[in-house]
Amino acid sequence: MTHRIAVIGGDGIGPEVTSVALEAIAAAGADVSPTEFDLGGQRYLRDGTVLDDQTLTELRTFDAILLGAVGTPDVPPGIIERGLLLKARFELDLYVNLRPFQLADGHSFTVIRENTEGAYAGEGGFLRKGTPQEIATQGSVNTRMGAERAIRYAFELAQARTRRHLTLVHKTNVLTFAGDLWQRTFDEVAVEYPEVTTAYQHVDAACIHFVEDPHRFEVIVTDNLFGDILTDLGGAVAGGIGLAASANLNPDRTGPSLFEPVHGSAPDIAGKGLANPTAAVLSASLMLDFLGDAECAQRMRAACDAVIADDAVPQAGTDEIAAAILARVTQPHMTRQ
Ligand code: IPM
Ligand code: MN
Repeated sequence: MTHRIAVIGGDGIGPEVTSVALEAIAAAGADVSPTEFDLGGQRYLRDGTVLDDQTLTELRTFDAILLGAVGTPDVPPGIIERGLLLKARFELDLYVNLRPFQLADGHSFTVIRENTEGAYAGEGGFLRKGTPQEIATQGSVNTRMGAERAIRYAFELAQARTRRHLTLVHKTNVLTFAGDLWQRTFDEVAVEYPEVTTAYQHVDAACIHFVEDPHRFEVIVTDNLFGDILTDLGGAVAGGIGLAASANLNPDRTGPSLFEPVHGSAPDIAGKGLANPTAAVLSASLMLDFLGDAECAQRMRAACDAVIADDAVPQAGTDEIAAAILARVTQPHMTRQ
């Protein structure tokens, strides 16, 4: 069955890395039909479009969305982020942001970031803007349903892993309302997963452990903002942000899920052939896995792992890394069924 994929290359290095991801998908032999969508900061500058309702309706008809990166320095912060990426996450109910990390010694751990609420919800506003008495509030929205569905997903994932170990990361000692809701929900769901051992860490302490002792983690569940920050740190400790992949999942499959590298549009290196396409290829691999093509997903992941393990390649530019990945992903004598 052909998987219909919407591709949003976006801005900066985004299109450079999604094009490599599409080549890798084809080389792996996956049955994918891509449709490109011209969205992002450049499109906004041209005609004011961010993500209109008609395009959103169209996106809903696809099996998945592959996104490179969006955002450009010429557009004020928030317009593209909120109007495109966060709108897609919220409207498509992509409530799990799954971000796996693999260390050089082979240890891997996965962060499950709640993806629709918290400080990202957009609650708040200004009072007396522009006066010396100006007030800005930006609340963190935490619903029982929102916390519970992310936590349940994390327990299910931990249950299927070797160590069956799940860590809740929050800041319950200071965020006593949101933290209490998250901790209580976590403890209540934990009762249903007696085989999963659990731990709790404050987010600041978790930052130390990410750097000094990441082996203690297998699956982590956390809120939207903590997860955003922790996963950049995860990328940094696991070989650099050029390798970090992510899946924005609608686990109920009421619409397409969205797959994207953790990195941004990196305008400073755009067009120079310097972007590492590995994170985009790994994100496409997560996509194929979610669509049920475990074989092609595994082929792409194995190719990336081999390239990452090859000391010569990380210094290389986009084309060399792409060629190295494609050479390893291509299986000429494999017959398709
Ligand atoms: C990420 C990014 C986004 C986020 C931005 C671009 C809105 O940093 O996917 O981690 O904050 O979630
Ligand atoms: Mn981020």
